[in-house]
Amino acid sequence: MKYDKRIVRLLGMQTPVIQAPMAGGTTTPELVAAVSESGGLGSIGAGYLSPEAITSTIEQTRERTGRGFAVNLFVPGEPAEDAAAVERSNSRLDVFRADLGIERPAPPARYAPVFDDQFEAVVAAHVPVFSFTFGALQPVEVARLKEGGTVVIGTATTVDEAIALAAIDVDMIVAQGAEAGGHRGTFMHPAEQALIGTMALVPQIVDSVSVPVIASGGIMDGRGVAAALMLGAGAVQMGSAFVVCDESGAQPAHREALLAGPAARETVVTRAFSGKAARGIRNRFIDELAPVADQLPDYPIQNAWTKDVRAAAGAQGRAEYMSLWAGQAAALAVKRSAAQIVDSIRQHLDAL
Ligand SMILES: Cc1cc2nc3c(=O)[nH]c(=O)nc-3n(C[C@H](O)[C@H](O)[C@H](O)COP(=O)(O)O)c2cc1C
Repeated sequence: MKYDKRIVRLLGMQTPVIQAPMAGGTTTPELVAAVSESGGLGSIGAGYLSPEAITSTIEQTRERTGRGFAVNLFVPGEPAEDAAAVERSNSRLDVFRADLGIERPAPPARYAPVFDDQFEAVVAAHVPVFSFTFGALQPVEVARLKEGGTVVIGTATTVDEAIALAAIDVDMIVAQGAEAGGHRGTFMHPAEQALIGTMALVPQIVDSVSVPVIASGGIMDGRGVAAALMLGAGAVQMGSAFVVCDESGAQPAHREALLAGPAARETVVTRAFSGKAARGIRNRFIDELAPVADQLPDYPIQNAWTKDVRAAAGAQGRAEYMSLWAGQAAALAVKRSAAQIVDSIRQHLDAL
């Protein structure tokens, strides 16, 4: 089918599929390399990694593929320190901790890795592609990446955000619709005012910026990819579909939740796990924090304080306390290899 080929040409892809960066261990070097080797583009979700871990993950990926791949970071905001909000959250988390057999930990030394140090690790590695979410880079940061030969991709959830990203000279923009699993990239609006569906968002962004657009959110197979390309996108970014694949590093309970059939259809946008709006499968953790969801600490403070609960739950296979990030079409997920996902999309597009 005919579509905007600028992205596949620039990134050297055979199939217009980007495997979404998924911070938290899902995007193993095996997964990233398998997607790139099969003609898509793999992405390392490096948002939670230390600079040293970023460097070594990039090395491990390069050992597995000579093809291009992306690295993704979270642009930091300015969270408000609020001791009452932390205690309000912790008093509820303590109930989960008791159930999991763990104690409330000492306050974290830092809430998140230092962005500037992460960024330097990425610049030094001269990666082929860099993508970011949760904000806009400084223009000088975009220029540094480009000087090093890196293609730069920003994430927008509204037309205004896409225009702001185009103004800092990014090469491409991910249009992240409300259906998307995981964190919302929203940075110019309250999260609840930036829940525009992929079908509505993509053509409006395509019409508002001159750079090519990557559609993301609710796309699980060739049908969704074809629809996104018809709307004017030049590629898609898919997360949930790859969470369950063979090379994914997602926790077993996370994969099982997506593959559980009808139960995976009930996703909600919640601030409960991290203090930032994100879409995942509804569970006890979300329900019990719902009454105070608007009064929780900001990201990344809440994220740091819930880490022990999420880690213990993951180790114990207790899905009711895990962040089961998933998009609205996650119930369409099929367990197979990353190459099979990309190949099936290529075959679907070839048959059109
Ligand atoms: C488990 C998970 C983790 C994610 N982590 C990130 C991330 O680290 N950086 C990012 O830009 N997007 C992240 N996302 C959002 C994806 O980039 C993408 O927008 C989303 O997966 C698209 O919706 P889909 O899951 O319906 O395909 C994540 C999504 C999931 C499901």
